[in-house]
Amino acid sequence: MVQINDNFLKLPGSYLFSEIARRVAAYSAAHPEKALIKLGIGDVTLPLPQAVTAAMHKAVDEMATASGFHGYGPEQGYAFLREAIAAQDYKARGVDIAPDEIFISDGAKSDCGNIVDLFGPDNKVAVCDPVYPVYVDTNAMSGRAGVYDEKSGKWSNLVYMPCVAENGFMPDLPGELVDMIYLCFPNNPTGAAATMDQLKPWVEYANRTGAILLYDSAYEAFITTPGVPHTIYEIDGAQTCAIEFRSFSKTAGFTGTRCAYTVVPKALQRGGASLNAMWNRRQCTKFNGVPYVVQRGAEAVYTPEGRAQVQANLAVYQNNAKVIREGLAAAGLTVSGGVDSPYVWARTPDGVDSWTFFDRLLQEANVVTTPGAGFGPSGEGYIRLTGFGQPDATKEAVERVKAVIR
Ligand code: MLT
Repeated sequence: MVQINDNFLKLPGSYLFSEIARRVAAYSAAHPEKALIKLGIGDVTLPLPQAVTAAMHKAVDEMATASGFHGYGPEQGYAFLREAIAAQDYKARGVDIAPDEIFISDGAKSDCGNIVDLFGPDNKVAVCDPVYPVYVDTNAMSGRAGVYDEKSGKWSNLVYMPCVAENGFMPDLPGELVDMIYLCFPNNPTGAAATMDQLKPWVEYANRTGAILLYDSAYEAFITTPGVPHTIYEIDGAQTCAIEFRSFSKTAGFTGTRCAYTVVPKALQRGGASLNAMWNRRQCTKFNGVPYVVQRGAEAVYTPEGRAQVQANLAVYQNNAKVIREGLAAAGLTVSGGVDSPYVWARTPDGVDSWTFFDRLLQEANVVTTPGAGFGPSGEGYIRLTGFGQPDATKEAVERVKAVIR
C-alpha cells in the first residue's frame, strides 16, 4: 500500500483564496442579480501594456517560422530576459546581480513554494503574522510546521513574528534561534514597507546565525517613498544570506500570463553547498522553463515604452489604493498600507471579527474583501482591500462600504 504524504492531512480547511472564492460563488448563485465588486484577491484588472502584447505577437509570428521557432528553452530562462533584469532591476539601483544568479519562472507563488526543496526538514521557520499563506502551507506540506492548533490558529513548530499596529506592522527579531525567515516587503497583507534601517538587523542576524532570508518583493514596483529599498540586496551583506522573489504579475499585469524570477546569489553558501547550484539543479530537473513568447513579453517591460506603460498602470492602482485608504479613513476606520503598496489594511469596526465583517460586506455592500484572520492570528480584526480594481468600481465599492459601516 502506498504511503501518502500525511502532512497534507494536517492542513486546515482550504487555501484562503479558494475559501473566499467558494463563499463568493455561493453568494452569487443565491443572488444572481447582485453586481459584486471584487477587491479580494490581488488580481490585476488592466490589460497588458501594449509594448508587452506587441512583443508577444512578434514572438508568436517567429514561432510560426522554421528559423524563429523555439522548442525547449533554457530552464533558467533566456539570457535576453535575465540580462535585462540584471541591468535594470539591479545594476540601475547600484546592486551587482549577475544574469546567472537570476532564474525565470512561472510565478513567485510557485518559487516561494518550491524553494523549500532546498532545505532540510528540521529547520526552524519564522513567518510574519499576518502572512501570505503560501509560506506557511508549503512548509506544512513538507513537514516543517508541526501540528496545526485550530484554537490559536498556529502551527506548533513555526515561529510567529507579530506585525501589529503597536510595532508599526514591522516584525521584531525572533526571540529564539530560527533558520528560515520569510520576509515580504512591501508587505502582503498589511501594506507596510520596510526601510533600510529596518532591514539591516535581519541581514546581520542571518549572516551571524547562518539563517536564510526568503525575501518576497513581489510588490516593490509600488514603492513611492524615497529611500525605501526595492531589493534586499540594497542592504550590504544580503548576498550571503538572502534569496529574493520577484514577479511581473502585479508590476506588469502578468497574473494570467505568468512570469516571475528568483535571485539566488552565488555568494550564498550553507553547509558547504552553493544554493545557486542547488536551485539550478532543482529547476533543471523539475522545470522546463517559461514559454519563449511570455519571456519576450516580459523583456518588453524593460523597453522605454514598456516602462512608461507599466508606470501608467501602476499609477491607476496606486490611486485606487489612495481612494480606498482615504475613503475608509474618512468613514472612521483605522487604516494603514496603501502608500507603498496596493493593499490597504483596515481594522474592522467595533472589534467585529474579520470573517463576520467579510460576510457582512459581501452581503450588504456586495464588495469582496479578504478577511485578515485568513492571513494568521494577528490578522484577526482586520480586512484587506486591494487597489487592483477598476477605478470607477473601486470608488463605488468605497461608497458602498461606507454606507454599511455608517
Ligand atoms: C493575494 O491576493 O494575496 C495575492 O494575489 C495572492 C498571490 O499573489 O498569489
